[in-house]
Amino acid sequence: MMTLYLDALNGHNYASRPPIWIMRQAGRYMPSYRALREKHSFLTICHEPDLISQVTHLPIAELDFDAAIVFSDILLLLESMGFKVEFDDGVGPMISNHLKTPHEVFNLSHEWIEQNYLSIAIQQLKGSLKVPLIGFVGAPFTLASYLIEGKTSRNLHLTKVWSYQHALEFQHLIQLLTKNVIASLKTQIEAGCDAVQIFDSWAHVLTDHHFNQFSLTPLKKIIEALKPYKVPITYFCKGSAHLAPLIAKTGVSAVSIDWTRPLSQVRNHLPHVALQGNLDPEALYLPIPDLQKEVNTLLNSMHCDPAYIFNLGHGILPNTPYENVQSLIETVKLH
Ligand code: CP3
Repeated sequence: MMTLYLDALNGHNYASRPPIWIMRQAGRYMPSYRALREKHSFLTICHEPDLISQVTHLPIAELDFDAAIVFSDILLLLESMGFKVEFDDGVGPMISNHLKTPHEVFNLSHEWIEQNYLSIAIQQLKGSLKVPLIGFVGAPFTLASYLIEGKTSRNLHLTKVWSYQHALEFQHLIQLLTKNVIASLKTQIEAGCDAVQIFDSWAHVLTDHHFNQFSLTPLKKIIEALKPYKVPITYFCKGSAHLAPLIAKTGVSAVSIDWTRPLSQVRNHLPHVALQGNLDPEALYLPIPDLQKEVNTLLNSMHCDPAYIFNLGHGILPNTPYENVQSLIETVKLH
């Protein structure tokens, strides 16, 4: 197996370049993915092990990334808890039976329903991939926000109001989700994932105190529960570069950073953790020569850092020019 990605996570990639993979690397910027979506809905793909494997392979086969990420979505865990998750084109995800009142959290089943289709797909992928496979979950806070808002929310107003006005219920919800997140990660690791990433995409709206309570404390519990597996764990929260030292203190293997701060500056305060990031997804719309310049500037700033993983600061955008992604990968590989 090609181990650049795992070497960097473990802090000892002494090859001449960092590994590269990108968040949402299998998706709508790929003509081959769009062609498959003409035939199947997003949820159909997510529920069908053969289709999950096929889509997970697309960016590896076509673009030769150094790691694969299981094709799924953080919201499928909520589906396995009995919520009705829908993805309508152009609208974003919707949960029609989301939590309407705080006391409903006490009626949520504690039963963990395994996502069998995911385990089967991971087992299939392990037999066919030549690069490491990344499993993932949404973090408890980010998942809680979908259960409360019922959709992606710009400012998470309702979620935050609940956290203040209904602290007991909110804490109960975070704890239940933490339990299920751990169960999901264990299942994915036992099925064969080589590394996992936790997406706490929307936790940057929290106060320091609440970030500690709803993101860092659950993260510590997750890390503790997964310790026996010795699998590297990456944590991503948009807009959290300034919190990287606190995040690193939890014992996480890698911190994924968005584009709002130079990664080399984050590195200065954080010598002992792997760093992932942080090209601005919009930089991929530059003309190719300018894009290459931008990518080389980032690569040079991290000069052969043995614990550096090249990625974007957030997921790749759906209408990103495909040739620019090809050029990005080529630039990193030739560095
Ligand atoms: O990275 C990968 O390639 C693996 C697959 C993956 C998807 N979603 C596929 C997807 C991963 C890791 C996710 C994570 C995810 N999903 C997050 C956390 C990461 C982040 O982006 O902050 C969140 C918040 C979600 C929830 C979600 N799913 C939203 C808000 C949307 C709609 C907006 C959008 O980007 O389209 C989705 C749909 C979704 N998830 C698509 C894909 C490929 C598009 C589905 C399609 O129409 O084909």
